Amino acid sequence: MNLRGILPFAHDTLRKVVRSGDYVVDATCGNGHDTLLLAELVGINGHVLGFDIQQLAIDATNTRLENAGASSQVELVCASHARIPEYTSKPVRAAIFNLGYLPGGDKEITTTADSTLESIGHLMELLEVGGVIILVIYHGHPAGKQEKDAVVTFCEAIPQQDFHVLSYSFINQKNDAPFVIIIEKRKPRQAN
Ligand SMILES: C[S@@+](CC[C@H](N)C(=O)[O-])C[C@H]1O[C@@H](n2cnc3c(N)ncnc32)[C@H](O)[C@@H]1O
Repeated sequence: MNLRGILPFAHDTLRKVVRSGDYVVDATCGNGHDTLLLAELVGINGHVLGFDIQQLAIDATNTRLENAGASSQVELVCASHARIPEYTSKPVRAAIFNLGYLPGGDKEITTTADSTLESIGHLMELLEVGGVIILVIYHGHPAGKQEKDAVVTFCEAIPQQDFHVLSYSFINQKNDAPFVIIIEKRKPRQAN
């Protein structure tokens, strides 16, 4: 057996959870790889809401979607993912974050702890039962350490009766290996 790498594991999870017609969020579009996968999974009857603070990334994502003929079900917003409540209040089946900087872009422009945590908090409210928030955590850059520590501390404190929280990592890998955290909303408890 080959263990799945970090990104394939995240994408496998999206494939298991997301169905045709779902409403999903790409919190960090970047070059649009995750956005395109989500667009394919939800199909023309679903909706992908995608965020990035860089117009360069929004343009790259838009080009990727158009080349694949998958742009009609995607709404791209050049704004921080912390502003999610301004753009939707719909139930969300899945959301993905790729934390860090835009590959091939300015390495000084990175996701940051404050906006990442604010956005995760909003998405936890919107998440459907059985829905997931996937965090792919790249932390090899200077700002990444602080963000990783803040995200892990936050996730460890999420109430276990309301959410499952899983960490998937290769614990013998050196050099700040990326890892995945998945937050899954559980069924509400029955009142006695
Ligand atoms: C690691 S890249 C994402 C890679 C992307 N998923 C892909 O498939 O190419 C991180 C992206 O997050 C964006 N970003 C940084 N802060 C953000 C914020 N507050 N809201 C939304 N996007 C942000 C960056 O501009 C960058 O494009």
